[in-house]
Amino acid sequence: MALLIKNADIVNSDTRYTADILCEGERITRIDKDITPPSGAEVIDATGKHVFPGFIDPHTHIYLPFMGTYSKDNYETGTKAALVGGTTTIFEMVCPSRDMSPADGFATWQAQAEGKACCDYTFHMGVTRFDADSAKQLRDIVKQGVGSFKIFLAYKGAFGVDDTELWETLKLAKELGVIVTAHCENETLVAQLQKELLASGHTGPEAHHDSRPPRVEAEGVHHLMSFAAMTGTHTYIVHLSCLEALREAIAARERGVNVFVETLIQYLVLDKTYAEKPDFEGAKFVMSPPLRDVSNQNILWDALASGLVNTVGTDHAPFDFKDQKPMGKDDFTKIPNGIPSIEDRINLLYTHGVKKGRLTLQQLVAVASTNAAKIFDLYPRKGVIQPGADADLVVYDPSYRGKLSVKNQTQNVDYNAFEGWEIEGRPSIVTVRGAVAVRDGKFVGKVGRGRFLKRQPSHF
Ligand code: URP
Ligand code: ZN
Ligand code: ZN
Repeated sequence: MALLIKNADIVNSDTRYTADILCEGERITRIDKDITPPSGAEVIDATGKHVFPGFIDPHTHIYLPFMGTYSKDNYETGTKAALVGGTTTIFEMVCPSRDMSPADGFATWQAQAEGKACCDYTFHMGVTRFDADSAKQLRDIVKQGVGSFKIFLAYKGAFGVDDTELWETLKLAKELGVIVTAHCENETLVAQLQKELLASGHTGPEAHHDSRPPRVEAEGVHHLMSFAAMTGTHTYIVHLSCLEALREAIAARERGVNVFVETLIQYLVLDKTYAEKPDFEGAKFVMSPPLRDVSNQNILWDALASGLVNTVGTDHAPFDFKDQKPMGKDDFTKIPNGIPSIEDRINLLYTHGVKKGRLTLQQLVAVASTNAAKIFDLYPRKGVIQPGADADLVVYDPSYRGKLSVKNQTQNVDYNAFEGWEIEGRPSIVTVRGAVAVRDGKFVGKVGRGRFLKRQPSHF
């Protein structure tokens, strides 16, 4: 059935104007003034609302075996939550353990998504070990449409790669035009600091920050940048949290290194005092890199507005407060790392970014949709409202007022990190490839309709 959105305040990353949007099949077919609805079309009046291209979350974990447990969402709950929050495409990190082959890892994650995903999805292929066999399999996975890798410089003994593996992965990526996304923290420094803190009796969640201080992250970025400079590989730093790390990325960029930077909604609105909450409540706010001193927030907002930081993701990694976070009750190094936020990213960016004058509407679209589409080879199919693009649209109601709460969330986890926070707007309609998936905060789409998006690498 055709869909006609009337009187849309169309907000792209580089344009803003009012018109009607006609969607037929799965695409936008026409944008014009006063389009007459084709017979049988659903007509949505968007007067008083903004219409954004579907938002893209460049960093999520839906299926994540990690730290002796599994993240709580599955593809059905996680992608429904994404959609309710206005995200129509997710990138998930395929994170095989070191003893699982890349081919098995890719197949495992595909099986998790197929038949369950409600929004479109694609993968960053985690390289958690590198040898001749994995290289062969990685080439094949790239041919199957995965145009980006993920490496961890942290998590010693789990996902982390050594320097030889890092070098080989970057060389292969360069040859294939693949961009390499990277978790940047120096794993040796983390391990040593964790040991010292525990030995001196610092066992609670508040110690997590000091086991991974800004210099540890900056050192990870510096390390990656040296390797990227020598291999010429295009890189993307995930979840950058602080000034020290940003300085390293910018300095490398000025030396000619191809590097993009992602920050997270958590670093923009939460700070390290949350992880210091008493009675183990701080565990809700343990993630890596850790929440930082509040002074970093304005730096990150400014860096987004000026284009130094390119994207805002969530690194959605939900672990229950009741049964999973307590795995680290007596030892903060065992608290499963992650702060869920797939559902809340856009409403928080709108409320704390746009409404507070830190981002324009167009910058919101750039950092939460278009830039990810461009960096990761989905543009102009995704990330823009124009004829020919997929009809992924977010009709956003700026007059909505409500509160974030575990009581009304869709994501499958027993707490909300932003409990009771007011939001000043929310999606009233969300479409994926021309079909309405959300109406007024409720998922109304079809489970399993989400499609795997094949991407052709372009970063030669
Ligand atoms: O704390 C985090 N970030 N958890 C998810 C795994 C990762 O490092 O991205
Ligand atoms: Zn990470
Ligand atoms: Zn992550």
